Amino acid sequence: MTDQVDLREAVNAVSDVVQNRPRPLRNFDQIHMKVGDMVMQSEIVADWADGKRLAFIGDGDAISVCVAYLRARDVLNFGPTRITVFDFDERTVQAVKRFADKERIEHLDAHLYNVLDPFPQMPEFDLFYTNPPWGASNAGESVNVFVDRGIEAIKRTGEGMIVIADDDERPWPKVVLANVQRHASRAGFYVSRMQRKLHRYHLDDDPDLLSCNLYISSLPDNAPILTPSEPIATERLTNFYGMDQPPTVRYVREKKRPDYGKAPDEEYFVELFGGE
Ligand SMILES: C[S@@+](CC[C@H](N)C(=O)[O-])C[C@H]1O[C@@H](n2cnc3c(N)ncnc32)[C@H](O)[C@@H]1O
Repeated sequence: MTDQVDLREAVNAVSDVVQNRPRPLRNFDQIHMKVGDMVMQSEIVADWADGKRLAFIGDGDAISVCVAYLRARDVLNFGPTRITVFDFDERTVQAVKRFADKERIEHLDAHLYNVLDPFPQMPEFDLFYTNPPWGASNAGESVNVFVDRGIEAIKRTGEGMIVIADDDERPWPKVVLANVQRHASRAGFYVSRMQRKLHRYHLDDDPDLLSCNLYISSLPDNAPILTPSEPIATERLTNFYGMDQPPTVRYVREKKRPDYGKAPDEEYFVELFGGE
């Protein structure tokens, strides 16, 4: 983080975002990044995307909201000109929209979208960001599905930041990193940068697992995408969310308008003075 950034203001802003964020659903690989790492990551993303239009392909972490809010609060004086989140969880989509509305952040928006479905017709983006399911049980194919939608969002020209596991002690993250890089290369991209072992997560059964920022950039002569977007082929969906967990859910729906900052009634009961 640069010297000019007021760390207290930055952490407090990210804390506001975390209060507004729905709780993670582990069965869809929603595992949230730790707050200190979110502050650092938001500054990295704001710097990388300065003056650009940025699409998030899934964003349970709410890095999108942090990046927009840090700029709106003048904690950062740089950042993207447009931020759009695509996520299949309506709680996430609505949380982004409500926060943007409350804080009057006009360049932040979100759409309900499942990556298995064709990518919607949209004005073009310059960059995409994804922190997808990490593909531990399918050699990174889940990551590649999210990357393909990101590449569609930027119409095969621009850059992507892919946040995935990075760990020297285990075999599977190495296999995933190799396969994602190979897949990006076949799609007309090269690895332009890699920031290794940056982030930790609220992951009870594996608290030491780290992730990296893998940057990919388009080759100069990439052909534009002219054909309509297609659904993802069934054979790519094996073990999508982990071993024997194929994607059967199109959308996670929000039951009622919750206030994420407050404990729900089911979480506690009270004992009154006087024993009643
Ligand atoms: C899979 S999680 C990865 C972990 C990451 N740290 C997080 O919690 O955001 C990333 C996001 O992808 C979204 N997601 C999962 N499956 C999806 C799908 N099929 N289509 C669109 N978004 C999806 C989740 O709702 C979540 O917000």
